Amino acid sequence: MRPEAERTPAVPLRDLLARRLSRRSLLESGLLLPAAALWPGPVAASPRAEEPSRARDLGFRPLEGSRADAVRVADGYRAQVVVRWGDPLWPGTPPLDTAGLAHGSLLRTGTAAVQRRQFGYNCDAIAFFPLVRSGRTGILCVNHEYTNDELMFPDRRGMGREGARQLAAWSVEHPGAAQVEIAAHGATVLEIRLVGGDWRPQIGSRYTRRVTGTTPIEIAGPARGHPLLCTRADPGGTRVLGMLANCAGGRTPWGTFLTAEENVDDYFGGYRSYCESDSADARVVDAHRRFPLLEHGYHGWEHTIGRFDLRREPREALRFGWMVEIDPQDPRTPIRKRTALGRFSHEGASCALARDGRAAVYMGDDDKFEYLYKFVSRDRCDLRRRDANRDILDHGVLHVARFDADGNGEWLPLLQGQGPLVATAGFADQAEVLIKARAAADLLGATPLDRPEDVEVSPHTGRVYVALTKNGDRTLESKRADNDGHAVDFRVDAPNPRPENEFGHILEIEEAEDDAAATAFRWNVFLLAGDPRDPAGTLLTDVRQLQPGRLGPRDTYYAGSAVPGDLAPLACPDNLGFDPAGNLWVVTDGAQPRGDNNGAFAVPVTGPERGRLRQFLSAPRGAEVCGCEFTPDGETLFLSIQHPGEGGTLGEPSSDWPDGGGRPPRPGVVAIRKDGGGRVGS
Ligand code: FEO
Ligand code: CA
Ligand code: CA
Repeated sequence: MRPEAERTPAVPLRDLLARRLSRRSLLESGLLLPAAALWPGPVAASPRAEEPSRARDLGFRPLEGSRADAVRVADGYRAQVVVRWGDPLWPGTPPLDTAGLAHGSLLRTGTAAVQRRQFGYNCDAIAFFPLVRSGRTGILCVNHEYTNDELMFPDRRGMGREGARQLAAWSVEHPGAAQVEIAAHGATVLEIRLVGGDWRPQIGSRYTRRVTGTTPIEIAGPARGHPLLCTRADPGGTRVLGMLANCAGGRTPWGTFLTAEENVDDYFGGYRSYCESDSADARVVDAHRRFPLLEHGYHGWEHTIGRFDLRREPREALRFGWMVEIDPQDPRTPIRKRTALGRFSHEGASCALARDGRAAVYMGDDDKFEYLYKFVSRDRCDLRRRDANRDILDHGVLHVARFDADGNGEWLPLLQGQGPLVATAGFADQAEVLIKARAAADLLGATPLDRPEDVEVSPHTGRVYVALTKNGDRTLESKRADNDGHAVDFRVDAPNPRPENEFGHILEIEEAEDDAAATAFRWNVFLLAGDPRDPAGTLLTDVRQLQPGRLGPRDTYYAGSAVPGDLAPLACPDNLGFDPAGNLWVVTDGAQPRGDNNGAFAVPVTGPERGRLRQFLSAPRGAEVCGCEFTPDGETLFLSIQHPGEGGTLGEPSSDWPDGGGRPPRPGVVAIRKDGGGRVGS
């Protein structure tokens, strides 16, 4: 991207005019209604998006980082807990017995059934769907990514910190625990209303729905029925029980929720023993190669539930790691895994409409040295008829990104029969390309990135922002090594320019012709995170200085901002969001540069304030911040406070958020509003 454009409005005026015309013609055609009438998101191009690209100023007084066990927000704002783990979603369901957790209350018979009617654990993605034009009533969709078993049960120590034998013995002794954990995964759909400045869940609303790790889900798209997805319980390969590890997500222009299955490799056991056994099926082993599993699952489910043991059901894991679509309007509609969007460690799904009305979905694959993907639908969206888009995500082309050193880039199509994706290379049909998306992307020459997390499209400029959370394995010198079954050079390159990248960075993409369906793009680094005041590094102010090989691990770049005292330290960008005014919001998950808790930050992407990142919120101890969803009027920001108290146990707690009084921590969704009303961030 043009270096000289770094501190000017992001898109030339003629392009803006062209886009406005193109969006106007869409509006006139009726294509953008009714979703656009309710939502000013990037996808729906509301009248707000027709405004010039200069974001309105962020006027809040920045917050200092904090290590307090509390949600702290900028002066003049208030954070309210909307819903927490264990809150009942239907009348007659009891609330979580928090006092009993340390005494094993979740080990009682019948607890899983209760959990299936309560808000789940570790909320992540949030999508808000207004039900009325005022936006004061709406549907909230929230993912439940994983469980912190050590904060649910006594005698547990936490993921990856338990000996395999110890976990196996505990699991067999408490067979009901796995069922409770599975019931706490998935997603919640609930109606909320703004009453007297607080968002209140509507218990037992007609929209209320809980999806868990056992909810029947249809397998849709090209891989439906493929032999690699057939199991003993589902010989047709069409229906899977549950979704797992659902991380960031997104909202479609036609009003559905996309929820991304991410670290599904945590849940299955017996991988090495299966691959080494005489009965191993070479095709199955090959399908797992680039998304390898564990010999000992982090939750120990394989000890009590056969389908999580590869030795018993080697294909079950291939039915996880997909993008899932949920219609929040009708709890009876089937939920579908959209296999056309590929199988990998899915994080996020940001939708945009192409110039011709087709849907584009941007998706990260969150592992070290993995890729950025974009799906483009075959058909145009018809937003006048919701049902017309029901299967739009089953037909289209999945692409993977190649970033060139000169600032150009290309979206490479993952199509069977094209280029190297042929039967002799292990891709006999399109289903195999999608099931083994990583392996297919390898052959196409996609660019390995520093852990692609959430992706977001600016509602004002159409530019795409990609959070690369961190990659401590990135090296200054060439080092070719295996990365999950693929030989990769770990050396820094233009899109991953910093060695030992513990702080992460954000890329900015401009699609050719400003079209979300384009196959070519320009790109640059928007932000190289860290501490701009760290004396061990330099705050760079010219994008041309971001030369791989010349950067140190502590160097930073904030889109050209030159005043370090003005800029908040930031590490591990994870979820992204745009407020309706066009400012980018970044929430974090990982060790912050000064040892403070995770937080939420806001930064203009256009105008003279471009790159001036300020902290808005600080999370409780041990928590990451996720979600990052605004109401259409911009007056409420919903955030997930995920895994408060992680690092502690029930016996040795490190947080008692949100209930206080020494009670066990509970993940929850908070709503942040300005005292007296007004746009969040103003
Ligand atoms: Fe679940 Fe990549 O965060
Ligand atoms: Ca994440
Ligand atoms: Ca997002």
